[in-house]
Order: sequence, then structure tokens, then C-alpha cells
Amino acid sequence: MLKLASRVAALQSSSIMDIAAQAGALKAKGVDVVTLAAGEPDFNTPEEIQVAATKAMAEGITKYTPSAGFNALREAIAEKVTRENGFPVKAEEVLITSGAKHALYFALQTLAEAGDAVLVPTPGWVSYHAMVELTGAQMIPLPIYEEDGFQLNVDRWKGMAIPPNARGILINSPNNPTGVAYSREQLKKFVGWALQRNLWILSDEIYEKILYDGAEHVSIASLGPEVRNHTITVSGFSKSHCMTGWRLGWAIGPADIIKKMSALQSQSISHVTSFVQWAGLTAAKLPASKIDEMVEKFDERRQYCLGRLEKMTEYCSYHRPNGAFYFFVNFSKFLNKVGKSDAEMCKELLSDHHVAIIPGSAFGKEKFVRISYANNIENLKKAFDRIEAYLKK
Ligand SMILES: Cc1ncc(COP(=O)(O)O)c(C=O)c1O
Repeated sequence: MLKLASRVAALQSSSIMDIAAQAGALKAKGVDVVTLAAGEPDFNTPEEIQVAATKAMAEGITKYTPSAGFNALREAIAEKVTRENGFPVKAEEVLITSGAKHALYFALQTLAEAGDAVLVPTPGWVSYHAMVELTGAQMIPLPIYEEDGFQLNVDRWKGMAIPPNARGILINSPNNPTGVAYSREQLKKFVGWALQRNLWILSDEIYEKILYDGAEHVSIASLGPEVRNHTITVSGFSKSHCMTGWRLGWAIGPADIIKKMSALQSQSISHVTSFVQWAGLTAAKLPASKIDEMVEKFDERRQYCLGRLEKMTEYCSYHRPNGAFYFFVNFSKFLNKVGKSDAEMCKELLSDHHVAIIPGSAFGKEKFVRISYANNIENLKKAFDRIEAYLKK
């Protein structure tokens, strides 16, 4: 085998994508697998966005574009965020990226390097760790506690020694995997804590539109001009507009940082696919009612899962999520009794009961599992019946 660069020698692919692929392979063999693994709306992309993309192709929007994205789309996103997220944004502060994921990747490549530490509240999304380490920096997990309902409680970090080389912190609300949308009060306290330490803030807001029980989304950058200068906001259309496969997201931040991130894009993937960007102009104007309809459906599913989990408390504990489409369930009661790990449980559930869910250890929290309810009630029922059968075996 050829010698690998040390940068990638220990790199693993995303465990969520791996489990989703294993489930897909079983399905291809004709097995009736229920997948509650990927964080992906099961609805198709709204029709007007599909039409906009095919029209753009027919009209020749099939050529290279500026690497930061079409100016029209940068402007449309700047206007949308100014209107919806409560802070003023100019087009030059927007970078159009291949999904929120690549925005996070470019932001970290731009801001972190060997010798730095980057703080990540944990449990946290699976890709943060790998992305931080690919910059050469060290990831330092900061605990988020189940006893706090997985709320953001910076008082918990007060006694912790934050190393002097800590440069930045990643924050994600509404949160994957916990399903918690942090409150304005919590975020204000968090911002005070971070600015006191002169940290940059990378705010992943990809689930900003998926909220329940009257929760509000608060963009970190809306909490004042000083914090805006320290923050890169990341979001996109994947979840809110059912566009996961399109790969269309953005980063918003100080123009000098966005310029460097754009240079990285220009030297790597050049830009996001031209007709996908063009369809983004239609996506940016999608009536809020369309998103609300989908969120209502997610809410029905959330209620259904709550009903099922309520009947499983002999085996697990959970809290009521108010954002995204995940339950992060503590199965330590069951796992301690049978002497198994969360990874073993998920493996057996997939191979023997044909339900795909993600082990909590992938998010930095053992004995938990993440269940995505971005699936219809019929499939959720099937999945919970199978999980119950596994637990009672
Ligand atoms: C917390 C979080 N951030 C970012 C992403 C990536 O979003 P995108 O598909 O827009 O790249 C995901 C996708 O699952 C996610 O859960």
C-alpha cells in the first residue's frame, strides 16, 4: 500500500453515513430495513425548486460561476438572513458552499491550525471531531449534561481549565444529536463566556427552522456587533428545504474571513454546481408556510415517538426535544444489565431486527443512541415494535 499522509492515516469515514450505507446495502438485497439513521427529511424537494434547477440547466446555467457563488444568490442569502435571523448581512459576507458541512470544513481550515485547541460541546455532531483534527488542531470536548436536559449551561464549565491555546468553539443549536434548541438566555451567557476568552465562535444553525413547542431560533451573531465580529454562522437548505442531496449551504462572517474561505473553495472545488445555485434563488424565497407544513409533520412524529418511549422507561430514559428531528435516548439501564455497548446494540438491531439507528458513542456519549424521526409514522411504528422486541428478547 502507498504511504498515507499522517493527516488522513487515522481518519475514518462518518459513522452515520457508514450505517446509512449498511442499511442501504441490506435494502438492496430485499431486506425490509427501517432507517432511522440519517438526518434527512423523507419528503422530496419542493417542486418549484426542482423546476428552477431544470429550467436553469435548459437555459445554459451550466458553466463555471464565481467561486464564492453567484452574486445574485449571495445577495439573496444576505437579504434572507438579515430578514429572518436578526442581524445585518452584506453579500460580501456570504460564501455559498457545498452544504453546511463544507462551510464548517472551510471555516475550520481558515481559523484553526496545529498548536491550537478548538472546544466542542459534547455530545456533538459526528463530523466536528474529524474536521477539527484535519486542521492539525486538538479538539477539546466540553460536557453537556443529561441532568440539565442537555441544555447549554456554561456554569458547568466554570471550574474547568480551558487551555491558553483555545482559539474557538463550535456551537450547534438546535442540536444534533440531543434535539435541544438553546434559549436566548443560555446563548447570551454562552457568548459572554466565549468573548471573555477571546474565542471565535463557529455557529452551526442548520436546523434553525425545525422547532417545536414554541421554541425560537436565536442566531448567535444577532446577539450584538462584538459577537458578530467573532462569529461564523453556518446554515443551508438541506434540512429546511429537503435538499440534502443538492449540497447547498452557506457561511456568513466578517468579509476578510469569507474571502479566505472563498479562496479555499476556489482552489479546491471551484464553486457549488451552477444550476443548484440558481435553484437556490427560488429556495431562498420559498414561502415559510411550506416549511411549517413539514415541521408539523415532524411534530406528529415526535409526539408518536414520545408515546412509544414513554412505554419503554424500564429500559431507557429520554427528554422531550424541541428542535431538529432526533431523540437522544439513554439506554444505560438496559445496556448495563445485558453487558453490551451502544455500538453492539445498534449493530444487533440492524443485523437481526433491521432497524438502523446511531450509537451515542459516535457523538461522544456512550450508552446512548440517536433515533431520527425523519420517517413516516408507519415506519416509526415498525421500528419501535422491533426495538421493543429486541429489548424484551
Ligand atoms: C449538526 C449538523 N451540521 C451540519 C450538517 C450538514 O449539513 P449539510 O447536509 O447541509 O452539509 C448536518 C447534517 O446532518 C448536521 O446534523
